[in-house]
Amino acid sequence: MADATSCKRKLQGKVAIITGGASGIGEASALHFINHGAQAVVIADIQDEKGQKLAESIGLDRCMYIRCDVTDEEQIKTLVETTVKTYGHLDIMFCNAGIVSKSEQSILDFDLSGYEELFAINVRGVSASVKHAARAMVKREIQGSIICTASIAGTMGGSIHTDYSMSKHAVMGLMKSASKQLGRYGIRVNCVSPGPVATPLLCRMLGVKAEEAEKAFERSSRLKGVLKLKHVTDAVLFLASEESEFVTGQNLTVDGGFIEHA
Ligand SMILES: NC(=O)c1ccc[n+]([C@@H]2O[C@H](COP(=O)([O-])OP(=O)(O)OC[C@H]3O[C@@H](n4cnc5c(N)ncnc54)[C@H](O)[C@@H]3O)[C@@H](O)[C@H]2O)c1
Repeated sequence: MADATSCKRKLQGKVAIITGGASGIGEASALHFINHGAQAVVIADIQDEKGQKLAESIGLDRCMYIRCDVTDEEQIKTLVETTVKTYGHLDIMFCNAGIVSKSEQSILDFDLSGYEELFAINVRGVSASVKHAARAMVKREIQGSIICTASIAGTMGGSIHTDYSMSKHAVMGLMKSASKQLGRYGIRVNCVSPGPVATPLLCRMLGVKAEEAEKAFERSSRLKGVLKLKHVTDAVLFLASEESEFVTGQNLTVDGGFIEHA
């Protein structure tokens, strides 16, 4: 087992961007990256107050909040350029911003404008994030790591939230293609696919508090216990760090062995 000192060095000298970094998985990952020695983490989000507070709590010498709506490619381009200008390089891009369906979105009542709104964030936003991070890495010959947050919904159909499931399947296709195209530059592209984890997104979706959300999924994994943010951020850290230096084109599922009809 690695000792505390080597743990601290997992991301030493690395500069990371986290989209959707102000809340949930993104927020927990920002803290995890910093605790593991990252030189700097840039939090990109549209929740200005939350993002700025988080950056201040981490310390403005190692963390910066940048408002970036991932549906706007220009904002993503500026985000990457500002990061490189400020810290000299970009090593890790965690494309994590995402939303869930606003309505049930079963196919018989499929709302196409809702689907377009969701795809603009979950698919278009992730595609543009991968594109501009990869360009910056290729330009500076950085053998970086790009991680996209997919979901267990990205490999199975859903009884509801059809558009969400579709969007995460698309992220998987993007990751697989980008990993083939970027391998020659030494850039790795992988997905992390969490099961249900009690973030503001899941709590909003279920209309309950975190403890109740966890209770609702208590029996939905083969392993005892419930999925915690730490389980997800450990997987993200693995994919971000050199511990996974020969891993690309993979989808790392973190769900304790999800039982679909529990
Ligand atoms: N929580 C779960 O159970 C779960 C399971 C599987 C996958 N995921 C995925 O994990 C990712 C993170 O979700 P979370 O659960 O941490 O939710 P969250 O709501 O806590 O965090 C998502 C963040 O994305 C930001 N965001 C939304 N739209 C944006 C935009 N247009 N531009 C920039 N940022 C934007 C939000 O402001 C928020 O801070 C999402 O992609 C989600 O689909 C979540």
